[in-house]
Amino acid sequence: MSEFYIRPIEETDKDEWLELWSGKHGYLEFYKTILSPKTSDATFKRFFDSDYTMWCAVAISKQTQKLIGFTTYLTHLSTWSENNYMYLNDLFVKEDCRLKGVGRKLIEFVYRQAELKKSEKVYWCTQTFNHRAQILYNKVGIYENFVQYAKDPDYKIEE
Ligand SMILES: CC(C)(COP(=O)(O)OP(=O)(O)OC[C@H]1O[C@@H](n2cnc3c(N)ncnc32)[C@H](O)[C@@H]1OP(=O)(O)O)[C@@H](O)C(=O)NCCC(=O)NCCS
Repeated sequence: MSEFYIRPIEETDKDEWLELWSGKHGYLEFYKTILSPKTSDATFKRFFDSDYTMWCAVAISKQTQKLIGFTTYLTHLSTWSENNYMYLNDLFVKEDCRLKGVGRKLIEFVYRQAELKKSEKVYWCTQTFNHRAQILYNKVGIYENFVQYAKDPDYKIEE
């Protein structure tokens, strides 16, 4: 029997979620990123605001009732579909809880939500060197031959 379960995040989860999100050995640290508390607060609020199509699900240890992982996901329009696409934005499992199927179950939760929201596609990206995540992704997804780019912050548009 599974030692954890997955459910949508609740407002009372905020402190524990923040610990996994921006605490020591948390998700932002994994990405060597610092976000202002204001941004993290805005993100958390949006999970519960029906004006936004952005959600979060959490994994809970049955033994401790503590949060041990989370995923965030959002829907957006696509020129390639009359329905929406679902983008899995973030996925994180606490270091000492990994390799027990938590990551896979969080992804499966998103897959189910995508069915409910009639999303035509569920997709996500990862860093080329994140081999650990890719072992899981190769089991639950297919590799698409895209390379991701972002605007160069120093790029100047010529007048
Ligand atoms: C990526 C991450 C979410 C995976 O979570 P997890 O709970 O360990 O994932 P799971 O246990 O569900 O799945 C891991 C799978 O990879 C396999 N795996 C992982 N490392 C492996 C290794 N070194 N050798 C063989 N198989 C390995 C496991 O056997 C498992 O497969 P299974 O479901 O068939 O048993 C977790 O490692 C994490 O949070 N990493 C840091 C943040 C991160 O990289 N997030 C993703 C950003 S895109």
